[in-house]
Amino acid sequence: MAVSKLKIGVLGSGSGSNMQSIVDAIAAKMLCAEVKLVLSDVQDAKILDRAKRHGIPCQWLDCAPFKTKLEGVAEERCIQLLRDYGCDTIVLAGFMRIVKQELLNAFPNRVLNIHPALLPSFKGIAAWKQALEYGVKWAGCTVHFVDAGTDSGPIIIQRPVPVLDDDTPETLHARIQVEEHKAFPEALRLLSEGRISFIGRRVYVK
Ligand code: GRF
Repeated sequence: MAVSKLKIGVLGSGSGSNMQSIVDAIAAKMLCAEVKLVLSDVQDAKILDRAKRHGIPCQWLDCAPFKTKLEGVAEERCIQLLRDYGCDTIVLAGFMRIVKQELLNAFPNRVLNIHPALLPSFKGIAAWKQALEYGVKWAGCTVHFVDAGTDSGPIIIQRPVPVLDDDTPETLHARIQVEEHKAFPEALRLLSEGRISFIGRRVYVK
């Protein structure tokens, strides 16, 4: 099996626990990759502290004037930085903005996102809360390729978790995150091992 070493650029807005799971998988030699750059649209996001602790180059990316998307000057700068650092795989790890076509065109079929729900249910924000309010018995997470829509690209991996009677949004999200931290490194491993192909929306794993 021909394994190619992924050169990962991470975009995140929050605590960075998913980025941490990727860094840990690399350290444990379970994933052949290197995190080349971490960018955050939130100046004091914990993900930047985590990156610093691991000696990973990281920067705040000022995305003004937009609040919910990555477009215009910031998008151009983002693409340039990712290229400058040699990234070939872009990981959206809790990045709370819609990414637009320019970024997708710059890294075709190489932008991955993790979403805290079993897509296509509960797209958008606080998906675990939506799931709880809806009353589903199973929640979970999805790793997918990013396309022009919101949480709509071809699905690579899903991992379910049960919803318990006494769950709060916080306890359910915590249980989902345990699975996220397995799913994202696993999806990246499949990519690095060249085991993923897709026809239309359907992703096939060899
Ligand atoms: C995760 O639950 C992810 O699914 C969602 O945002 C959260 C980010 O968590 N998109 P972290 O910053 O990786 O800890």
